[in-house]
Amino acid sequence: MSNVITSASQLKFKLSDLPDLPAPGRVLMVRPDHFSIDYVINPHMEGFVGKVNKAKAMQQWEQVRNAFAQTGLEVVEMEGKPGLPDMVFSANQSLPYCKPDGTNEVIMSIMNSPYRQPEVPHFADWYDEQGYTRHHLDGEILPIFEGMGDGIWHPGRRLLWGGYGFRTSKDAYDFISETFEVPVVALALHKPQFYHLDTCFCVLNEDSVLIYPKAFEPEGLKLIRSLFKNVIEAPEEEALQQFACNATCPDGKHVIIQSGAKQTTRALKDAGFEIIEVETGEFLKSGGSVFCMKLLLW
Ligand code: ARG
Repeated sequence: MSNVITSASQLKFKLSDLPDLPAPGRVLMVRPDHFSIDYVINPHMEGFVGKVNKAKAMQQWEQVRNAFAQTGLEVVEMEGKPGLPDMVFSANQSLPYCKPDGTNEVIMSIMNSPYRQPEVPHFADWYDEQGYTRHHLDGEILPIFEGMGDGIWHPGRRLLWGGYGFRTSKDAYDFISETFEVPVVALALHKPQFYHLDTCFCVLNEDSVLIYPKAFEPEGLKLIRSLFKNVIEAPEEEALQQFACNATCPDGKHVIIQSGAKQTTRALKDAGFEIIEVETGEFLKSGGSVFCMKLLLW
């Protein structure tokens, strides 16, 4: 049975009622050899077609990879494919999950943009090699779903946060909730610059999240505040210019974040987090940063 929650009055559990979810130990990253901006599918890409500095992008990608390795994650690399310039954003093609019995499963995305749809089979092949059980969304209802761009696991608990409105349809979460047997808290997104949940919502640990509040509707904010004790807010300028909420905290302690988000990093430090700043400027031109450049996996 699906359990998709869209308002605080539907919350029938406390976080501590939900079973534990082990922390992911690996990240999958796609090498940026074929990264470029060839089309515009989000507002950040406007004006940047043909404007990626490839050498710089490679350096930045390596810095991000090293930052993940530094926090103790195993980094798995996949080759990019010619003609798929956004494949480097490996958060988007799938949503992996580790079942309570320890087996690994995955739901493959149906990407919104036809430009990006051919990325998905490359990931499906990879999952087959890794022994994951693959699930596919119901093609008859034709929902759209962009993996961990919109579906984000609550740290340490079997609960999924699901953004919808731009790249994912709300219907997709019924299937996801039913398939993985988890509750999904669905959050409407309404600002085109914040087109994926990971552009405005960064889980830090079981109690803490970093958000850009104006990307959400009032009911969504209520849900976030009901389940996280500490809600840190990024100012608009940093959420937009540095993609501050597209950071990643893989271990509940270190936050890997685009450099220059001064107020956000100050607030994170005050809350006890350690900051690892990286430069992702070439990827920001495409509307992505740290979070979308990797996929957290078990
Ligand atoms: N250019 C890519 C797109 O618009 C960027 C994706 C960034 N990924 C993310 N999870 N926010 O699809």
